[in-house]
Amino acid sequence: MRISVIGCGYLGAVHAACMADFGHEVVGVDVDPEKVAKLAAGVPSFHEPGLEPLLRKGVDSGDLTFTTDKAAIAEARVHFIAVGTPQRGGSYAADLSYVWTAVDDILTHARPQSDGPLVIVGKSTVPVGTAQAIADRVAEAGLDAVVVWNPEFLREGFAVQDTLTPDRVVYGLPEDGVASGVARTALDEVYAPILEAGIPRLLVNYPTAELVKVAANSFLATKISFINSMAELCDAAGADVSRLAEAIGHDDRIGPKFLQAGIGFGGGCLPKDIRAFMARAGELGVDQSLTFLREVDSINMRRRDHAVELASTMAGGRLVGVKVAVLGLTFKPDSDDVRDSPALDIAGRLWGRGANVVATDPAGAHAVRALRPDLQIVDSADEALDGAELVMLLTAWKEYVAIDPSHAKSLVAMPRVIDGRNVLDPQRWTDAGWDYRGMGRRAGQ
Ligand code: UGA
Repeated sequence: MRISVIGCGYLGAVHAACMADFGHEVVGVDVDPEKVAKLAAGVPSFHEPGLEPLLRKGVDSGDLTFTTDKAAIAEARVHFIAVGTPQRGGSYAADLSYVWTAVDDILTHARPQSDGPLVIVGKSTVPVGTAQAIADRVAEAGLDAVVVWNPEFLREGFAVQDTLTPDRVVYGLPEDGVASGVARTALDEVYAPILEAGIPRLLVNYPTAELVKVAANSFLATKISFINSMAELCDAAGADVSRLAEAIGHDDRIGPKFLQAGIGFGGGCLPKDIRAFMARAGELGVDQSLTFLREVDSINMRRRDHAVELASTMAGGRLVGVKVAVLGLTFKPDSDDVRDSPALDIAGRLWGRGANVVATDPAGAHAVRALRPDLQIVDSADEALDGAELVMLLTAWKEYVAIDPSHAKSLVAMPRVIDGRNVLDPQRWTDAGWDYRGMGRRAGQ
């Protein structure tokens, strides 16, 4: 199958590489020449484990190309829309301008193909109702193409694995039976290796497909905020949220995943998706259905306040001039993404309160240097720890989880640590002479 992928960010670049791996002929199109130059040379433009070999393989074989020339989509039969839908400035709603530009690009450059009707596949996360609006626009423009909505569930850090072997694939199909059949057959061909592996395929209508995506992310965000609200209770009552999560997670109706309490969720998806979902519910006249998401969001933001206050308390009530070593700046490990990162937000707030912040991150330093040139970034944990009066672990990179507390103690000025992700062993750190504070847990429990 000849495929175009419009938008080569996290989603599009990984999708393009994986589709080439499935044996398709893929062209990725993006407006950013720097990004395209890297991808075209087989080099990822962001940190994503396992992506580089796949990109190289596709590029070397000639089956995977990247370009800024939108006209290059002309030979494709299936067009994937994989552009970003960020939060609109001054509002909770999603900014769909990149999606509409992609649709216009398809209307301008797509050409009829001899091997079957054109298929436009939406992968971006959009407010419910968008797929139908796109289908209407395509019909009005007179392009003979079928629109299908096919949400993506990949996690950063596991993007390749999640694309090659997803938990499920969802096709949001048009009501018209003939069009629906065309879309289903084309996507079945695109995803043949996934379907042959027996991965469930769900056939639904447009609005269901759009809602599946935001419902899944809302559920995940709710689970995290639930456990973080339990962390607040645990702090107040002297309990340990990690043990609590372990105990409730044994109930398989609850499950152990996404119950890691800490400084909360961030990234380019969960925070903006729950906000856009609330905004869309308001437009649909059912805002009450999602008022709980407002609470999910505010519990999440409170975690950051709590981390800053805890730092201040541990430093004796004042942060001015206190040397704070911040370990981790990305929104999660195995990613260089600092979008809406709780760690970066907390580092910035400590700096704003006068702390002498010295931060480090294995992959996010480059992005942070561009965004926050005022923050002091060093290359290693040892450099950050040198002379620190307070240590804050804010992203659970495995190299930070593995730090030896005795070695770390030999470097710092004051052995005080805030474990913002509840990933250190409290007993081990306390035994090594540290004043340890977790998020809803403490040493000795
Ligand atoms: C999320 C979803 O997990 C994916 O299924 C979805 O496809 C993706 O958004 C998307 O919409 O594109 P991602 O943003 O890569 O994926 O990251 P997650 O692994 O969900 O983590 C999000 C945040 O929650 C991180 O800041 C992480 O540190 C935090 N988190 C996660 C917790 O604080 N506790 C947990 O137990 C789990």
